[in-house]
Amino acid sequence: MIDNTHADAPVAVVTIDGPSGTGKGTIARIIADRLGWHLLDSGALYRVLALAVISHAVDFEDINSITTMAEHLDVEFKPSGDMNMETDIFLEGEEVSKSIRTEEMGNYASIVATIPSVREALKSRQRSFRQSPGLAADGRDMGTVIFPDADLKIYLTASAEERAKRRYKQLKEKGLNVNIPALSREIAERDNRDASRTVAPLKPAEDAEIIDTSDMTIDEVIQQIGLLLEARALMPKV
Ligand code: DC
Repeated sequence: MIDNTHADAPVAVVTIDGPSGTGKGTIARIIADRLGWHLLDSGALYRVLALAVISHAVDFEDINSITTMAEHLDVEFKPSGDMNMETDIFLEGEEVSKSIRTEEMGNYASIVATIPSVREALKSRQRSFRQSPGLAADGRDMGTVIFPDADLKIYLTASAEERAKRRYKQLKEKGLNVNIPALSREIAERDNRDASRTVAPLKPAEDAEIIDTSDMTIDEVIQQIGLLLEARALMPKV
């Protein structure tokens, strides 16, 4: 007899949500790489949309035009091909990997992300990343809205001070000009907007595993997630 038990089993997904500066992006990338899975950096979609709004000189109050842009957003993610597992991101054929990473663009991304019709327009695009053999998805609402049936939901937190320090280091390494007091203010403002919006606010899913990374290294966080993956039989044996 043919065993069809798993024939229609959905592709495995691990979601990693939390505010900025918790290490989400780096951790999602390492997990995707270790498991040989696809990666969804959902924040990059909102950042690219914000950049498109600016480059087409659309008003941030013009919800109809921004929604239409979200529906037709010409964005492409390509592995950069070098050893650091980075992804090159293209908007309308032009590389924007670096220009979308500024704090300013994070802030604009958080503004367009409050628009319910924009979030709706980007849903199916995000879900289309769920392809065999699996997906690691990072964002704010991956476990609550986009992949509510995820196999493992992680919610990362860290103290505001530690997150500001990490963002500072990250942005400096990318050659961007920042200072800690201004960065702390911007982060607090953005987190507040992300957590208080009416649709898909930043919050842990009820069934999420919450990890406070304030005093942890990236390796320690990965180790802890590794145990959770193993417990759910998602980790390939090496
Ligand atoms: O993760 P990030 O810093 O690149 O995200 C930029 C902004 O995009 C974030 O402040 C809020 C928004 N965002 C969102 O609303 N939902 C997501 N799943 C990911 C990002």
